[in-house]
Amino acid sequence: MDTKPQHSVPVPRLYKEASKILRRYENKEGAIKTLVYKGKYKNFGRIYGLLCKTVENSAAIKAALVESSLYTNEPKFDPYLAQVLTAEMLGKGLLGDCKPILTLLKYEGKIRSFAGSNFSRHSSHVMKDNCPRYVRVNTLKTSLSNVQYQLDNNGWSLQEYDPTQVTYSDFLKFIQASCLPVLVSGIKPGSNVIDACAAPGNKTSYIAAAINNTGHVVAIEKDLERYQTLQRLVVERRATCVTTLNQDFTRLPLDKYSQVEFIFVDPSCSSSGVNLHNDEVPEERIRSLACFQAHLLRHALSFPSVQEVIYSTCSVYVQENEEVVQNALKEFQDQFELEDLSEKLSGWKHFGNESFVFGRRCLRTRTDVDKCHGFFVAKFVRISKICNRLTSVNKIDKKRKQQKSFKNLEIVSGNSKNLESKLSEVVTCAKKKQKVKR
Ligand SMILES: C[S@@+](CC[C@H](N)C(=O)[O-])C[C@H]1O[C@@H](n2cnc3c(N)ncnc32)[C@H](O)[C@@H]1O
Repeated sequence: MDTKPQHSVPVPRLYKEASKILRRYENKEGAIKTLVYKGKYKNFGRIYGLLCKTVENSAAIKAALVESSLYTNEPKFDPYLAQVLTAEMLGKGLLGDCKPILTLLKYEGKIRSFAGSNFSRHSSHVMKDNCPRYVRVNTLKTSLSNVQYQLDNNGWSLQEYDPTQVTYSDFLKFIQASCLPVLVSGIKPGSNVIDACAAPGNKTSYIAAAINNTGHVVAIEKDLERYQTLQRLVVERRATCVTTLNQDFTRLPLDKYSQVEFIFVDPSCSSSGVNLHNDEVPEERIRSLACFQAHLLRHALSFPSVQEVIYSTCSVYVQENEEVVQNALKEFQDQFELEDLSEKLSGWKHFGNESFVFGRRCLRTRTDVDKCHGFFVAKFVRISKICNRLTSVNKIDKKRKQQKSFKNLEIVSGNSKNLESKLSEVVTCAKKKQKVKR
């Protein structure tokens, strides 16, 4: 007879990891997103969604758990696990038969009646902004058709449109705002690139895919923990042309990187464009961020061979965007100009603040207007490059260039023929088929 004690059913990893992250979040060890990226659970979207729902309903959940007498009757119940499981129970519903789940389910009726209408089933990060959900296909690992097949089997369909008839709303359907810096850049296979503020590495891996792992990308990250995430992502996403460096970009010696042609500067910012709770950012904080952003941009513009510097933030404040750009333009006026991105992405509607003379040359997105997160992009181009182009490019070529930007969109929308050979990482938008329940 087997006398070994029976192993109890383990708590599903999703809930275990989510409760650990919640504990760290409540101990003020970082933002949910940062902690999720640092964590071990790979389905970032799923765990992030669950944690957002838990945090957004924190007051209702905590009160309902206390009122239900769960903690009085079950004093050993981990309160973080209890909160995560409650969010799931009141949201998607709990599945599984580990002990904490079975225990919590005994209190379901009471918890539901106490939480009542104070619990919102939909996370604001998913529903309130009413933004489309995007899927970026990493063609360094798989093909668009493969992903398309899998999405199709799971009840999702890709939205297609005619790339010769691009409208503004098409842009917004098919492009994730944070991909704009890479899309508007002139990088191509063989390019020599620096990603100055790289972690967690989304843009880095997109850049690597866009140049099809040819050329070279140096991805720099100052913060050690975030650097480790960057390293992991670069490997996971098979971005083999990337070298990572754990250092302060502003201390990167100019002469050692004298060949670099493209620099992406996507610095830490107030994140006001993705601020789900519309928290006010103190003026003092905005000022200090702007100061450090200007410092980074200035350093990027100082590299001797750099032809393009693409500056971006997910902030909506002019202090972190147009004002930083204005100061850099003043300082580097003999060397750099802003490329007019309104020409590059014809059909785009929303530009930089027009009280700045260069405002319309920059791109902006805003959640309420553009159905995507708030974002800002400005592209500095070395004047000699512009002169060369103007003398060698006639009007017909200019027309072709505009068509090229449409081609990008064509790729973005999922034209698999052009995809692998041109822009190897794709942003697209998947829409749930109507017959399938959301
Ligand atoms: C907005 S995040 C970058 C997001 C990233 N580009 C992406 O798409 O995944 C800004 C990053 O810049 C890093 N950072 C801030 N100052 C830096 C500096 N002086 N040198 C290098 N990295 C820096 C921050 O630690 C942070 O990880």
